[in-house]
Amino acid sequence: MDNLSVDHLTGIKNLTENDIQLILQTAESFKQVINRPIKKVPSLRDITIANLFFENSTRTRLSFELAQKRLSADVINFAAANSSVKKGETLIDTVNNILSMKVDMVVMRHPNPGAAVFLSQKVKAKIINAGDGTHEHPTQALLDAFSIKERLGDVAGKKVVIVGDILHSRVALSNILCLQKLGAEVMVCGPATLIPKYIDQLGVKVEHNLRKALMWCDVANMLRIQLERQDIKYFPSLREYSMQYGLDKELLDSLDKEIVIMHPGPINRGVEITSDVADSEHSIILDQVENGVAVRMACTYLLAGKIKV
Ligand code: CP
Repeated sequence: MDNLSVDHLTGIKNLTENDIQLILQTAESFKQVINRPIKKVPSLRDITIANLFFENSTRTRLSFELAQKRLSADVINFAAANSSVKKGETLIDTVNNILSMKVDMVVMRHPNPGAAVFLSQKVKAKIINAGDGTHEHPTQALLDAFSIKERLGDVAGKKVVIVGDILHSRVALSNILCLQKLGAEVMVCGPATLIPKYIDQLGVKVEHNLRKALMWCDVANMLRIQLERQDIKYFPSLREYSMQYGLDKELLDSLDKEIVIMHPGPINRGVEITSDVADSEHSIILDQVENGVAVRMACTYLLAGKIKV
C-alpha cells in the first residue's frame, strides 16, 4: 500500500479505501513536518504546479499553494477573473498554453461539474480537482476525514450528519463517498427541497428534523447555503431556514451529549451556525483548515510520484 491506484485526483468516487488510508497516513507525517521549526521538505524540487481557479476560493487556493511551497515545488497561480478567459479563451486553450510552460501538475477549481475529469482526458499533466461545480471536492472530504480521525481516533463506526444545502454541495457528495469508504454511517439533514431525489441510492439516512439528526450523530458537518448556485427559491427566507436548520448554543446544550461540529467554510454566521457554536470547544473548524495543508501536501506528493520523467 505505497502508491495511489489513480493517476489523477478528480473525485473520491475513483479512490479505493487503501488510497484514502494512504493519503491520511501520508498527511499525518506531513502534519508533523509543518509543525517543526523548519516546515519545508525538498521532495518536489523538480516539479512545477499550476493552480487554476475559475471560481472564488480562500481556503483551498491558499492551502494548496502553501502545501506546494512546503514541498519545494515551483508554483504558478492563475485566477480566471483577471485572465484572457475574460477575452473568450477556452478552458482547453488556457490549460494547453499554461502546460506549454512545462507544468507537471494542475490544481483546478471550475464551476462546471466534470471539468477536472475532462481535463484529465485531454492533457498529460496530473490533475487535482479543487472543486468542480456541484459535483466533487475531494481534498475537502479527505481533510474532513483526517480531522474526524484526529478528534475521535477513527472514522470507522462513527455517525456523521451533513446538514443543509446537500443539493448544491460538492462537499456533501465527496464527504458521503469518503466517509462510507472509511466505514462511517452517514445521514443528511435539511429541507426536502435541498435534498437530491437520488440520495437513497448513496445509502445514506435522510432526516428532516435537525434535533433528531443531532441526537443520532457523533459529528455534525454544517454546510453553507449556496445562494450563488440557487436559481429558484428553495425555502421561504434565510431567517426561516436558520430557525429550522441553524445550529445555536441553546440547541447544542439541550442535546446533553458531546458532538463534534464541522464546517467547510466559508461560514454564514447566524444562518447555518451561530458564532458561539462556531467558536466553541465543540468546533473543529479551524483544525479542518490547518489539516487542509497537510492533506493537500499528501495528495500532491503522492500524485507527483506518478509523474513519468
Ligand atoms: N471549503 C472551501 O472550499 O473553501 P474555499 O471556497 O474558500 O476554498
